[in-house]
Amino acid sequence: MKLCVIEGDGIGREVVPAAVCVLRQVLPQIEVLPAEAGWDKFQETGDALPAETIEIANEAGAVLFGACSSPSYPVPGYSSPIVKLRRAMETYANLRPTRFLPVPTAREGVDLVVVRENTEDLYIGDETTADAGDTGTATKRITRYATERITHTAFRLALNEGRRRVTIVHKGNVLPQTDGLFRRVAYEVAKDYPEIETDEFLVDTAAYWMVKEPARFDIVLTPNLYGDILSDMAAAWGGGLGLAPALNLGDDVAVAEPVHGSAPDIAGQGIANPTAVILSASMLVRHHWKQPAIADRIDAAVKAALSRGDYTADILGVDGMSTDDFADIICDQLG
Ligand code: NAI
Ligand code: MG
Repeated sequence: MKLCVIEGDGIGREVVPAAVCVLRQVLPQIEVLPAEAGWDKFQETGDALPAETIEIANEAGAVLFGACSSPSYPVPGYSSPIVKLRRAMETYANLRPTRFLPVPTAREGVDLVVVRENTEDLYIGDETTADAGDTGTATKRITRYATERITHTAFRLALNEGRRRVTIVHKGNVLPQTDGLFRRVAYEVAKDYPEIETDEFLVDTAAYWMVKEPARFDIVLTPNLYGDILSDMAAAWGGGLGLAPALNLGDDVAVAEPVHGSAPDIAGQGIANPTAVILSASMLVRHHWKQPAIADRIDAAVKAALSRGDYTADILGVDGMSTDDFADIICDQLG
């Protein structure tokens, strides 16, 4: 059982060791293969995602990824390594659950999963510039193939988890050739799953209802960019970004990666919440290694700690436990 571990940048380096510790406790046979990627790696070598890292990731088939920093302006030779890695490994589904966790910032009754298409949409990164930099154009690509694949993932997840409804979220009214295609194909595939209810929202209305009545949502099936945005929004109802896990899933491969980024505002202080990455590791155990009982143990240890009020500073916005102290509690509990 091999695991490629990429800490990345910022708080990625602080929180990933906590998840590795947890995994070693519950699956001592794990062989950890460290690898590098990110902005710091790019600064050092001019390559944000070295070929060696992709090789190690593919060899392991399972990756634990922290976060990487990406500037919001063009840097020649740089593009987000996690977006590249998801594509290189064909992890076409990004599962981003938001479930109530016992912290004061979470909303009771919320239990939804954003199923985000992970390989296309504006994320193909096909951008051009003209007019001396004053005009930018990006290609949004949606295909039948990728939409069928992600829709099957959403409905199978609904069946496996005993869920009742898949909500297709799109902007087909403005983008009928791309989002309209996504919507149409998703409804076609939905016919294979008559036991699951299917409905839809335009993405702006979906955002409104996810804020107003989050418990109304079950599985949210959506293209890449909307999934990115809506999953951060939903994370607020789960108690915050420090608690929000995610799993990039392909046919025989998976990349566990929290929803949050490298958090430069708190990086280096040892106060980041490792819960999101620990719960992402648990998703890897559940969905990729197919060991639900072990994943349940990890989730239960996290819930028990939070129920006791063991919090890092992000939960209540006041002094909290350090990353390492919180991680030790979870690891000890699983030992
Ligand atoms: P962010 O998710 O890094 O941070 C947003 C806010 O949430 C910050 O106030 C941060 O302190 C807080 N936060 C996030 N994770 C936390 C944790 N585990 N514990 C406590 N507080 C936490 O998003 P931001 O600031 O927009 O982006 C920072 C950098 O991260 C950017 O360079 C961006 O490109 C990158 N990024 C990378 C991602 C990835 O590698 N998958 C995903 C999102 C952003
Ligand atoms: Mg994001």
